[in-house]
Amino acid sequence: MKRFYPDHLPVIPNEPCWEDFCVLDVDDKRGQGVLVLREFSQGSVLFRMNGTLKTEMTLHSLQMGPGLHLDDPYFAGKVLHSCEPNSWLDTETRLYIATRDIAAGELLTMDYDETEDILFRAFPCCCGSDTCRGTIGGRLAKKPARRGRRQTVSSDLPAQLYATVMAERQTYADQFATASVS
Ligand SMILES: C[S@@+](CC[C@H](N)C(=O)[O-])C[C@H]1O[C@@H](n2cnc3c(N)ncnc32)[C@H](O)[C@@H]1O
Ligand SMILES: [Zn+2]
Repeated sequence: MKRFYPDHLPVIPNEPCWEDFCVLDVDDKRGQGVLVLREFSQGSVLFRMNGTLKTEMTLHSLQMGPGLHLDDPYFAGKVLHSCEPNSWLDTETRLYIATRDIAAGELLTMDYDETEDILFRAFPCCCGSDTCRGTIGGRLAKKPARRGRRQTVSSDLPAQLYATVMAERQTYADQFATASVS
């Protein structure tokens, strides 16, 4: 099985599946994110996060409890924030659950303020939702007054990323099939 995680992290049940997701560069504003490659229905389990428990937060850690952070720079730590997310993390089970139906080609998102007291670094959100809260800094962070215009991103981008990923994977599968025959 092709994994997102390196071998030093033991395989766990419901690890994110290579066929279901892709970690990729989204854009200059958001950096890397996770693209969903198949449909998921509301309430379904997306994956269980893996990682290394730490007492210090990192850019890619998720807060499991007071002073307890699960560092995952390989997969879950790449999930982008949205003020109207399509997933949430159950910190008891470490399972990511779909909060609504998710279509193939959507970016996977979660609300960082639901798990994190304070973020490793605050950032101006460009989730594009009508209810965007502006600066995201964690649930205990002081909310700065909204200044300037709302950050905008192309809503066509996930579909373009999806088309590119699926074309790359098809090319790879074709090459593999050809190599197996010859
Ligand atoms: C947990 S990391 C996510 C992975 C990260 N994009 C990367 O390339 O490694 C959180 C960082 O991603 C970016 N980010 C996540 N969601 C964002 C959003 N809705 N708008 C803008 N930047 C976002 C911010 O730079 C934030 O500090
Ligand atoms: Zn937002």
